Amino acid sequence: MTKKQSGKASETTTLTRRSVCKAGIVGSLLVPMAAIGQSPDRQRPQPGDQLVFEEGPHQGELVRPELLELNQQPVSALAREPGTSVLRDGSRLNRVMITRIDMEQLTSEFRTHAAAGVIAYSAVCTHTGCDVINWDAERLRMACPCHESQFDIYDGARVVGGPAPRPLAMLPLLIQDGVVTVAAEFHGRVGFTQQF
Ligand code: FES
Repeated sequence: MTKKQSGKASETTTLTRRSVCKAGIVGSLLVPMAAIGQSPDRQRPQPGDQLVFEEGPHQGELVRPELLELNQQPVSALAREPGTSVLRDGSRLNRVMITRIDMEQLTSEFRTHAAAGVIAYSAVCTHTGCDVINWDAERLRMACPCHESQFDIYDGARVVGGPAPRPLAMLPLLIQDGVVTVAAEFHGRVGFTQQF
């Protein structure tokens, strides 16, 4: 069965759990900020952080691979520093969208960033910064509600439609004590380049 066959055949769906950010709101977030001097909640996910569900039936729980179904609509998650339990929710650039995929069909260069089939991409569209919260269940693509950019989750969030200029950043993961844990800082630049 191909990845496309295994996805639920339905049209693109739209989440309504939060409003989509207007482009201008996050314009000031273009320049990556150094972790040094930032409060822990604003720091980007750090190696060793544990992922926590931000929404859905497991909201607030640590992310474990068995809690995610194969090829389902990505859900948002945040990193939590295990020692202090600080949730890195001080910047929307820290949010990731997670799901579980068939590792065999993930493009080989990205396999080292997945853990037990779980992958995590930045939620922030590289076009003008909206949250990428829509989902094309038939083609297994993340989709941006603002200008309809689409990203192939099986190919490092490669842009496969719309005006986004580059893939979503990918957060490398590993499994530690059964929990999905950050293995390294984001692969790729988080945020967007203003296009207008
Ligand atoms: S902000 Fe996502 S396509 Fe424009």
